Amino acid sequence: MKLAVLGANGMLGTDIMSACNNAGISANGYDLPEIDITRDEGGLDKIENCDWVVNCAAYTDVDGAEKEKGKAFDVNRDGVRRIAGWCRRSGVSLLHISTDYVFDGKSKTAYSENSRVNPLNIYGMSKLGGEEEIKSSGINYIIARTQSLFGANGRNFVRTILSRLGNGPEPLKVVDDQVSSPTYTVHLSDAILRLLNTGEQGIVHVSSSGECTWYQFACAIAAIIQPGVKIIPVTSNEYVRPAKRPAYSVLDKTLYTSWTGHVMPPWEDGLKEYLERIRS
Ligand SMILES: NC(=O)c1ccc[n+]([C@@H]2O[C@H](COP(=O)([O-])OP(=O)(O)OC[C@H]3O[C@@H](n4cnc5c(N)ncnc54)[C@H](OP(=O)(O)O)[C@@H]3O)[C@@H](O)[C@H]2O)c1
Repeated sequence: MKLAVLGANGMLGTDIMSACNNAGISANGYDLPEIDITRDEGGLDKIENCDWVVNCAAYTDVDGAEKEKGKAFDVNRDGVRRIAGWCRRSGVSLLHISTDYVFDGKSKTAYSENSRVNPLNIYGMSKLGGEEEIKSSGINYIIARTQSLFGANGRNFVRTILSRLGNGPEPLKVVDDQVSSPTYTVHLSDAILRLLNTGEQGIVHVSSSGECTWYQFACAIAAIIQPGVKIIPVTSNEYVRPAKRPAYSVLDKTLYTSWTGHVMPPWEDGLKEYLERIRS
């Protein structure tokens, strides 16, 4: 199996490239400026012969998208349409990464692949647009929806908390009314390689086992790094950001497990492994 990874220098893309390297899977990585998926003449033809394109390239600034709607849609919907078109012309399958932000978060139970989508923010709308382009393209595809990623090669919540712990006289305030399943990009990369070997296609949900609020996640980080530090739980209304976030966006992984026979590790394991990695 040969892969082409788009967005290979990003947080997830970097770990997918490492996972391929460790597993002895041949993978070529591409990113800006070599390939710009927003340009018709952007060079998708530079992709070398492969069986799968794994697309991690995306506009990922959730708050920024509220002001840069055009840019978000250029990359996350129209760029994905170009990739799907290239895959169709080349007879190549596509594994595309999507997001829990296609849901509105009003559910009280984990979202399945068949749950109704209703994004609350521009980023979620643009990612949903990308999903729709793939579904209507006629190619073989897997759309892997995931959530709340943290990894060594990118900005993420864990890094933000680490930089703020013990900084300044004010205790850290973290929202306690948004529930998800924080997912380590190394665990997700392993899951993606498993998915490529299933022969299945369609939408599938992949994130850590378990769930927590951002406040609970921050407390778990602090318990390892700086036990005893005070963190204050706040509501989303007290911590207003440009983009609305779903209150509850836990993804149901039943289909992933039935396809792969694998259960995703708990978020607590991902956190410990990530902290060990960045501290070593
Ligand atoms: N991070 C999360 O919490 C999260 C949650 C759910 C789903 N996801 C999805 O997971 C995937 C990977 O996310 P990530 O966190 O690894 O994102 P990331 O670190 O921002 O990586 C995205 C990569 O895509 C590149 N890129 C941006 N615009 C491009 C374009 N026009 N053409 C080609 N490449 C372009 C970026 O380059 P530059 O850095 O130079 O812009 C970057 O290397 C994305 O599809 C994202 O929507 C992420």
